[in-house]
Amino acid sequence: MARDWIIKGGLIIDPSSRTMEEEDLWVEKGHIKGIDPHISQEGIPVIEAQGLWVTPGLIDIHVHFRDPGYEYKETIETGLKAAAAGGFTQVCPMANTLPVNDTGAITLYMVEKARSIRGPILHPVGAITKGLKGEALAEIGDMVEQGAIAVSDDGNPVMNSEVMRRAMEYSSYFGIPVVDHCEDKNLSDGGSIHEGVVSTLLGMKGIPRTSEEVMVARNICLARQTGSRVHIQHLSSKGSIELVQWAKEQGIPVTCEVTPHHLTLTHEAVKSYDTNTKVNPPLRTQEDRDALIEALSQGVIDCIASDHAPHSLKEKDVEYDIAAFGISGIETALALVLRMVHEEKLSPLRAIEAMSTIPARIMDLEGGSLKVGSPAHITIIDPERTWTVRKEELVSKGKNSPFLGWDLKGKAVLTMVKGEVVWTSKGFPMP
Ligand code: DOR
Repeated sequence: MARDWIIKGGLIIDPSSRTMEEEDLWVEKGHIKGIDPHISQEGIPVIEAQGLWVTPGLIDIHVHFRDPGYEYKETIETGLKAAAAGGFTQVCPMANTLPVNDTGAITLYMVEKARSIRGPILHPVGAITKGLKGEALAEIGDMVEQGAIAVSDDGNPVMNSEVMRRAMEYSSYFGIPVVDHCEDKNLSDGGSIHEGVVSTLLGMKGIPRTSEEVMVARNICLARQTGSRVHIQHLSSKGSIELVQWAKEQGIPVTCEVTPHHLTLTHEAVKSYDTNTKVNPPLRTQEDRDALIEALSQGVIDCIASDHAPHSLKEKDVEYDIAAFGISGIETALALVLRMVHEEKLSPLRAIEAMSTIPARIMDLEGGSLKVGSPAHITIIDPERTWTVRKEELVSKGKNSPFLGWDLKGKAVLTMVKGEVVWTSKGFPMP
């Protein structure tokens, strides 16, 4: 049930109006009613937020909830709970479920299941092609009708450029972006980690940067030809950034995201042989990582998305070569981003913008703003709170994190969706 609240004394960070002020915020009937240095209203419960950040609800446009089909890894319920604990108020799950989300019926199943759970709002991303096979187009219109907000074959690339062209033309008819996992399978096949000194040292087959870059270039060319919006997922290489920058300078409608793990780790982490470092695209070099951070702070990379990819021990407690790709990341995303803020590599405003305002814009979602009249999707963050990433404390079923045991600084302490508090951290004083 949505309630009325006054959130008192927090640092209100609103990238949509480029403001950062210590003020009170008034929530009424699930919407933002007012922001003022001093608000007091008889009978309305007060959430004390002194020393905390009050931000637009975080939005993660790239998650895997494994439901239907792989519920032993994650369900819509556990995924939404993990998202709320990570500070997220809206999430976009990918289509690589079983069955694949390539019809309106599966999209509707996801939407209805999420609606029955008190938590973040779920917006499914439908498949581009039937069965993620890269051949025939999926039922795009049907999925959009049931609530899909974009299409992607994530996990798999669309190798056939003609199919991709048709997907772009068709999707723009529905006003949705095509979202692409850029990987040339002919270049990457059999690889487990970035192709470079570490792969040579460990004797593992590598995945070259070019496997991503040629597909980024291909998508840019197709977006230029069709005029359709394309969003590039989990950018990992410096070369991809250069291509996106060029495309933006030409006015080609391309946006892109980066993950917290690519911003934090490099292929050096693979020397541990920890299969939780195995992810697609792979962790790359320090030069790539530095370029990703710089491009994010400059806005060449538009936003941050977790690519939350929960797996069970069965898929991860095996030799590196045969382990599944993926990192369970929705609960560590915010703290890893705040690490860059604490190191002054990213401003607080830009960090929050990249996790709320811009994702909302890319996927045409309501939210990402604290302007009066907006829905009260709000995240309250303690930027100074230190915590240790512990397997037992992760809400997600996926414990496959390379950050287990890390001490991090910064945590969401309250997550509010349309005025309803869907999560608070342990010990947070609620009125
Ligand atoms: O590491 C990854 N895991 N990358 C992907 O693109 C897919 C994801 C998954 O579904 O596990």
